[in-house]
Amino acid sequence: MADALFEEPRLAGVYDPLDPDRDDLVVYAAIVAEFGARSVLDIGCGTGTFACLLAGRGVDVIGVDPAAASLDVARAKPGAGRVRWLRCDAAGLPPLQVDLATMTGNVAQVFITDAEWDAALRSARAALRPGGRLVFETRDPAVQAWRQWNRAGSLSRAVVPGAGAVESWSEVTDIRGDLVSFRSIFTFEADSVTLTSESTLRFRQRDEAADSLMAAGFIVDDLRDAPDRPGRELVFVARRPG
Ligand SMILES: C[S@@+](CC[C@H](N)C(=O)[O-])C[C@H]1O[C@@H](n2cnc3c(N)ncnc32)[C@H](O)[C@@H]1O
Repeated sequence: MADALFEEPRLAGVYDPLDPDRDDLVVYAAIVAEFGARSVLDIGCGTGTFACLLAGRGVDVIGVDPAAASLDVARAKPGAGRVRWLRCDAAGLPPLQVDLATMTGNVAQVFITDAEWDAALRSARAALRPGGRLVFETRDPAVQAWRQWNRAGSLSRAVVPGAGAVESWSEVTDIRGDLVSFRSIFTFEADSVTLTSESTLRFRQRDEAADSLMAAGFIVDDLRDAPDRPGRELVFVARRPG
């Protein structure tokens, strides 16, 4: 099960309006073009913004996510009919031979245990053609992004058609080693409803992430910065040997 944030229909419905700036996807689209990828698997595609963007550029895209409510939002988007949507966990991908796989929006951090992360990586590797690439980002732990996860640092507000005004913010509930737990709070002003979602993310060090990729059978070709969030993200470009 993914977090309520992605699984609860009302929350999935406000994911995009509350975070409308998707400049973070530009770097991924550029990498798809850089490697001439004709087929892309977007792991943890959520509400499908990146999958639809690529499909609109003629790329053959498969979007996978375990959260049915997020996939429902994705399927309703313009151009969604050109994407193949699959409800599944990263560790349970079907047999594929894609040119490139992505995990945008810090999906890599949802895999808390070493076993979950290793299973996701091995599954992604098996879904790539020999020589295919896996590209993902993870927040640099040195930046301690969670220090902004409080009402003042994370408040977002949107007026959503059909839902009215919605406010959202996060608050950290626990920090244990490299695991940061937090609560996301949503208030729907139209009917005075407040919904919450509990999450835990893992902040891997760069060497740890690189080592885990190599252990799962990848070659780490590059570690880049995210141009829209300089110094804050580690963007890995890994390759299935072949
Ligand atoms: C922060 S969202 C990012 C969504 C999307 N990639 C984006 O950039 O907007 C994290 C996504 O990871 C998905 N997720 C959670 N657990 C997962 C798993 N085990 N396998 C694949 N995706 C998972 C969630 O359902 C959610 O859609």
